[in-house]
Amino acid sequence: MKPTPTASGSPPRIPGYPRARRFRRRSPPAEATSFIHRQWDRADRGEGVSQAVVDVARDQAVGLLWVGLRPQRRVGGLGYWIVPETRGSGLATAAVRLAVPWALEALDLQRLEAWVEPDNLPSQRVLRSAGFHEEGRLRSFLTVAGRPSDALVFSVIRPRH
Ligand SMILES: CC(C)(COP(=O)(O)OP(=O)(O)OC[C@H]1O[C@@H](n2cnc3c(N)ncnc32)[C@H](O)[C@@H]1OP(=O)(O)O)[C@@H](O)C(=O)NCCC(=O)NCCS
Repeated sequence: MKPTPTASGSPPRIPGYPRARRFRRRSPPAEATSFIHRQWDRADRGEGVSQAVVDVARDQAVGLLWVGLRPQRRVGGLGYWIVPETRGSGLATAAVRLAVPWALEALDLQRLEAWVEPDNLPSQRVLRSAGFHEEGRLRSFLTVAGRPSDALVFSVIRPRH
């Protein structure tokens, strides 16, 4: 999978990104179905790639990992969440560790970054253990629950050959 460069400099389209497997159990409620379709559409629109985090032992989707394409060429932004009842089992750490080399290679990124609220210590630990470096603080960069929040910027850089 390689992004196709565009003349306009707009985010590249990601052709042929394989769609997640279909639900095998009972049909999910409409809200869940539309959530899943929104994730698929992100790849179709060339915005980035959303993937389910799956607890393989239980064969259950327990979270989401998202690599968005920033407006800057070959720069990606990482986001993720794990459902509350499954947190603290190392799943986010495992998912991010897997995703970093994949995203740099498959999406041809030179930089993958993440913006984290300063008091989100679990997320900062996830990033550090996946090789991210803290670069600095953007003041009032995020809006969380309608209020401005600072963001710590973390990044990982693709090794130059
Ligand atoms: C952040 C989040 C994804 C972490 O998921 P998780 O599966 O619980 O993470 P892990 O089990 O891999 O553990 C993460 C680390 O945080 C640590 N941790 C957990 N709670 C903590 C706390 N209250 N304070 C400090 N560290 C904490 C764990 O010990 C672990 O560190 P370690 O590996 O060095 O021991 C999850 O809490 C979440 O979904 N939060 C809401 C969404 C969010 O914040 N997303 C990230 C946005 S940048």
